[in-house]
Amino acid sequence: MTQPAVSSAKRQLTHEIISGGSGLLLALFMWGHVILVGSILTGERGFDWVATMLEDYYIAQPAILAIFALFVIHAVYAARKVPAQLEERRRLQSLAKGLRNSGREHVPTRTKHSPFRPHLESMLWIWQVRTGFIILVLGSFHLVLIGIDIFTPLYGDITGLESISSTARVAAGLWIPYAVLLLCVEFHASVGLYRLAIKWGADLWLSRAAMHRIEQVIFWVVLAVGALTLVVLAGWVDPPLAFLLDGGGA
Ligand code: HEM
Repeated sequence: MTQPAVSSAKRQLTHEIISGGSGLLLALFMWGHVILVGSILTGERGFDWVATMLEDYYIAQPAILAIFALFVIHAVYAARKVPAQLEERRRLQSLAKGLRNSGREHVPTRTKHSPFRPHLESMLWIWQVRTGFIILVLGSFHLVLIGIDIFTPLYGDITGLESISSTARVAAGLWIPYAVLLLCVEFHASVGLYRLAIKWGADLWLSRAAMHRIEQVIFWVVLAVGALTLVVLAGWVDPPLAFLLDGGGA
């Protein structure tokens, strides 16, 4: 390999590690987020206890800044790969078309055992790019709003998150962008983890079909908990785990 080719390959690997690593950390954070915001399922007391504890021990303040930085790094590095991957996908699609046309009945492109499933893999990738752009807009808005709430007394009675202001803003209409964000984040994260696992060789141990099933289970479970959290925040459903805290907490 020539020197420029080696340094270009090194640069590509560095980009892969940064975009994959930041994506993995964000996906892990989102599972923690489901649990932390999900504290509203135990009632307002549970939510306020979690928020106050994270702020009193100065965990929430650096965390929001770190997540914002990670969010921007991931967006920049993942977006850089989009044009090159788009070109790659186009070539793969036209190759697949050529293969289908040259003897459709002999090319099992649609069976789950085929190593060559350009349609499904490409659709997942295309929707990952689309949801990524939606998350960039709605996620930035959410992070700025939560940042203002954590660092200023602008919302509610105190400096910091409180169930009373969180539930009020969700009920007032924020449930709409949050519902879109939730759907996009869960899809983007579960497909992202699936693609990351394939990229780093997990399909040596597990078949793609098995990994795809795992990805779908993660997607539906986290989406269901997130959706329940959202309807409780909006005040449409009573906290189902209120019995865990004495007196219900609401
Ligand atoms: C440290 C960073 C973060 C904190 C402290 C935080 C905190 C919160 C809080 C308190 C709520 C309740 C609603 C509200 O008060 O407005 C909420 C809801 C939500 N957050 Fe975050 N958030 C963070 C990062 C993120 C990120 C990076 C995303 C995705 C890009 C996200 C997506 C959501 C969604 C979808 C909801 C709706 C509730 C649900 O169904 O889970 N959050 N967040």
